[in-house]
Amino acid sequence: MTDARRHILIAGCGYVGRRLYARLAERFDVTALVRTAHSASMLAAEGFRTATLDLDRIRAGASVPERLEQESIVYLVPPPAFGESDLRLDRFLQLATVPPKSFVYVSTTGVYGDTGGAPVDESAPVNPRTDRARRRVTAEEMTRVWCTERRVRRVVLRVPGIYGPGRLPLERMRKGEAIVREDEAGISNRIHVDDLVSACVAAITNPEARGVYNISDGAAISSSTFLLKVAELAGIPPPPQVSMVEAQLTFTPDRLSFLSESRHVLNERMRKHLGVKLKYADYAQGIRASLEG
Ligand SMILES: NC(=O)c1ccc[n+]([C@@H]2O[C@H](COP(=O)([O-])OP(=O)(O)OC[C@H]3O[C@@H](n4cnc5c(N)ncnc54)[C@H](OP(=O)(O)O)[C@@H]3O)[C@@H](O)[C@H]2O)c1
Repeated sequence: MTDARRHILIAGCGYVGRRLYARLAERFDVTALVRTAHSASMLAAEGFRTATLDLDRIRAGASVPERLEQESIVYLVPPPAFGESDLRLDRFLQLATVPPKSFVYVSTTGVYGDTGGAPVDESAPVNPRTDRARRRVTAEEMTRVWCTERRVRRVVLRVPGIYGPGRLPLERMRKGEAIVREDEAGISNRIHVDDLVSACVAAITNPEARGVYNISDGAAISSSTFLLKVAELAGIPPPPQVSMVEAQLTFTPDRLSFLSESRHVLNERMRKHLGVKLKYADYAQGIRASLEG
């Protein structure tokens, strides 16, 4: 059987998924699964093969699009906004009846919680601090059980903040949105969307890939340092810097929950075992490419 006849399902085909689809379509027969008819018709207009399924509202007779020659399922649907479990993934796994060769689950580095800036590799225990991170931990575990029972090669990609063309907060920065003072902000990591897509492709095509991989550009800098560089390269005035105490009074709870955690996510296993060659290990280059894209 040739690669061209093998099928890949991208479950959740938004910002990351559509770029992944474009990268895979040369070699595989790809289907993009989305929630709304609107997204499906937008993708279909660009030549994507699409299917629609709302994992929050499963109707009788619903199914996920599968073929007998299933190379991979790449699961990019975010968990629901509430609860400690990922019911969307649970429903999806119940509907997926044809086991693929591999299942790639895109998770987050939030599962490590706050390490106070200490480095973490994949051997570190998970320590979720928020419901958002707890949903991810339960989702990772669901995929482990499902894949083990079906002898499916499972790859979990733990991903930090994703940026790229159209995914820099330029509007908010132009309006003068404040950041935490650089010397008070914790460290974190990011990944350019093109490098994340490379990691997804490697997870599908490298038969040795299995288990958990941290996906990160390796640059442990604060979001404040990153945004100051965005402002400089975009020609926007530098954002005003406020103390953490002031941020706690004025920033949204969601934004604060990200800022309250600090960790350095190591990416050696991604580079050496998964085989990802980063295009944007240098975040300044990644920002420049994002502004041009
Ligand atoms: N943003 C970050 O910095 C970050 C960091 C770490 C991990 N991640 C994770 O990376 C993954 C991909 O992110 P992204 O930015 O590409 O996401 P996105 O642009 O928001 O796309 C999400 C996709 O999932 C579909 N979807 C949402 N709810 C659904 C439901 N109930 N049933 C079926 N499909 C549903 C959406 O369909 P419609 O278009 O029809 O709504 C869309 O195709 C997500 O799991 C995200 O949480 C993101």
